[in-house]
Amino acid sequence: MATASPQPHAPDTAPIPISNFTKDRYLTREWIERERAALWSHTWLVAGVAADVAATGQYFTFDIGAESVLIARGMDGTLRAMHNACTHRGTRLVTEPLGMLRKVVCPYHAWAYGLDGALQGVPGAARFSNGVPKDKLALEAVEVEEALGMVFVRLTPGDLTLTEFLAPIHGLIDPYRIEAMTVTGDQTVSHTCNWKAILDNFAELYHVPFIHPLHRRMFECANAPFELFDHGHTAVYVEGGTTDSGFPVPDAPTDLLAMQLQAFGLDPADYQGRVADIRTALQRAKRAAAKEQGLAYAGFSDAQLSDVWQFNLFPNVILSITPESAWLMRSRPDGADPAKSHFDMITLVQFHGTEEDAAKAKAADGTEAGTHFRLNGPRPADYQRPPRDSFTHEDIIAGRKTMTVTIDEDISLLARVQQGMASSGFQSVWLSDEEARVQHFHDALDAALAEGS
Ligand SMILES: [Fe+2]
Repeated sequence: MATASPQPHAPDTAPIPISNFTKDRYLTREWIERERAALWSHTWLVAGVAADVAATGQYFTFDIGAESVLIARGMDGTLRAMHNACTHRGTRLVTEPLGMLRKVVCPYHAWAYGLDGALQGVPGAARFSNGVPKDKLALEAVEVEEALGMVFVRLTPGDLTLTEFLAPIHGLIDPYRIEAMTVTGDQTVSHTCNWKAILDNFAELYHVPFIHPLHRRMFECANAPFELFDHGHTAVYVEGGTTDSGFPVPDAPTDLLAMQLQAFGLDPADYQGRVADIRTALQRAKRAAAKEQGLAYAGFSDAQLSDVWQFNLFPNVILSITPESAWLMRSRPDGADPAKSHFDMITLVQFHGTEEDAAKAKAADGTEAGTHFRLNGPRPADYQRPPRDSFTHEDIIAGRKTMTVTIDEDISLLARVQQGMASSGFQSVWLSDEEARVQHFHDALDAALAEGS
């Protein structure tokens, strides 16, 4: 694929047709059912990270509404996906979200399957007068493919290939090499909002100055260019190493900018009265540091070295990415209740560079600046893939859990959006041009529902 070279639209160009859709899509069981029948069953979905099934015997599960899919790398090295339901009486087979398996044994009557889904053993098979036709009783296969360091599944085969589905954005994401990144965090928060409220939240920066005060100290959100792609995908390109143009330019580097300068050996005092020069200085410093370490940064533009690019993959994935790290975020409906969903966040890190980089990265740990702007050094010798941490949004509101300051702020607000939508005083949304990505997502959703029903 070609090197990334987006031609983003400025948000103030041609007006986007806005439909101001009604609230029923967030509130009704009818919509949950329509989405189950026509969206989740027919669309390519990100099931997980390819690194989690790189070795034979590795598996993870992917739950979407009432469906659960088991994705496993068989002993023959082939990646397969199958429904996570025993063909005897339907019992969910695997409940641990990820790990290693040699075979799958049902906990109820001990039917045993291979990682290819084949039925291998049935206790007391002689007592089945109707026989045990193994060809009919294999675990039902699901379409599965790897791309861009992720594993995609599709429950019902369709015309659109995964390559075609990803074509509009593949060349933009590919240079980041997610397939070479390492999982360093895996969190799931159960939430009291519709799954789409989360997608909407990540499809506009209009809310940022009001609930994310930290951003203005390191990002330009007021005029971030965005793109709308075929198949419902969108992108937004957020300049880093700067301050938000919606606010006065400060005389001195902000605390977060100072931290980024220091991480590359630059003195914040040199940028007194020159805050507008910091982004370029950081780009140069990072390219020089990468070159010194022989890192393959040639495929990245200057903007990619300082900025955060965010891709929303239709229907339910948000990928926020820099050359050093990625947040793979995903929103999933929970069964039949339209006001319940799960929000997943997998943190990925590109480990490369020197031990000295690792020390600097560690010093910046726990800050958003640290997450987005550093060379990480080599992968630690004692690295272990973290287990999934599952909790509720109340844990975030109470401060018992965090998914970073920014995400916590979003999660804390979204329950209120769902509550307010149920009010008889609210009927439909009223979107700004800045929320064109929200509209694009809902247009693609409407098209998918019309096509899949
Ligand atoms: Fe937000």
